[in-house]
Amino acid sequence: MNIILIGAQGSGKGTQAQKLVEKYHLKHFSTGDALRAEAASGSPLGLKVKAIMEAGELVSAEIVNEIVKNAVEKHQEQGIIFDGYPRTLEQAAFLESVAEIDAVVEIEITDDEAVKRISSRYSCPKCKAVYNTQTKPPKKVGVCDNDGEAIVQREDDKEAAVRKRLSDYHAQTEPIIDYYEDNEVSIYRIDGQRPVDEVFEELCESLG
Ligand code: AP5
Repeated sequence: MNIILIGAQGSGKGTQAQKLVEKYHLKHFSTGDALRAEAASGSPLGLKVKAIMEAGELVSAEIVNEIVKNAVEKHQEQGIIFDGYPRTLEQAAFLESVAEIDAVVEIEITDDEAVKRISSRYSCPKCKAVYNTQTKPPKKVGVCDNDGEAIVQREDDKEAAVRKRLSDYHAQTEPIIDYYEDNEVSIYRIDGQRPVDEVFEELCESLG
């Protein structure tokens, strides 16, 4: 089963994807994580990608589609949760050429809630666990519950970059939902403003 999670920044795509992995053992594939890994490698491509991401811009489809194609080849049999991809109609058309999509889940939140959540988000660079200093703090301040690594805040989580990312989301990513509706893919809309476990419960009910 291949699922796409769509939602504004901070809607909880990464948070819900991790819970889906625990329950259904699908592969969580986040283009944001894959691009951050490339940036951290220090390769020439990584340095280019890092600057684009820190400004809150979208990385070119050419780079992202290649990463997606490799991930689909590797994890197709297990089933994939796409988190952060596709983000444009062009990417949606590319994905259609390499994988079959069973369901699209849109997690809805307001922009104000997005900015509030993102500004207090921290994550573990090692295991990728996501925390929130307001709603889901780690047990010990500043370190990951799973492996004791120091948790960090993303460069692109500063307010100006978040506002830019939200504006791109409304302009370029939201139209993808109509694209899937036109292609008769099942779409589930979930109110993401509720607590994490309530969102997850509805997500599981929707996916059956
Ligand atoms: P990416 O890493 O994909 O970021 P994003 O889509 O902007 O999404 P976020 O990770 O910010 O939010 P999320 O929905 O996963 O929320 P989370 O679960 O963490 O992309 C980063 C960059 O990479 C892009 O800007 C671009 O440059 C590049 N990129 C990536 N994909 C690309 C593509 N396809 N094409 C081109 N470029 C691409 O939750 C957020 C916070 O809220 C956490 O602290 C969490 O604990 C908390 N939280 C979650 N759910 C709840 C809840 N229900 N109640 C209260 N708090 C909650």
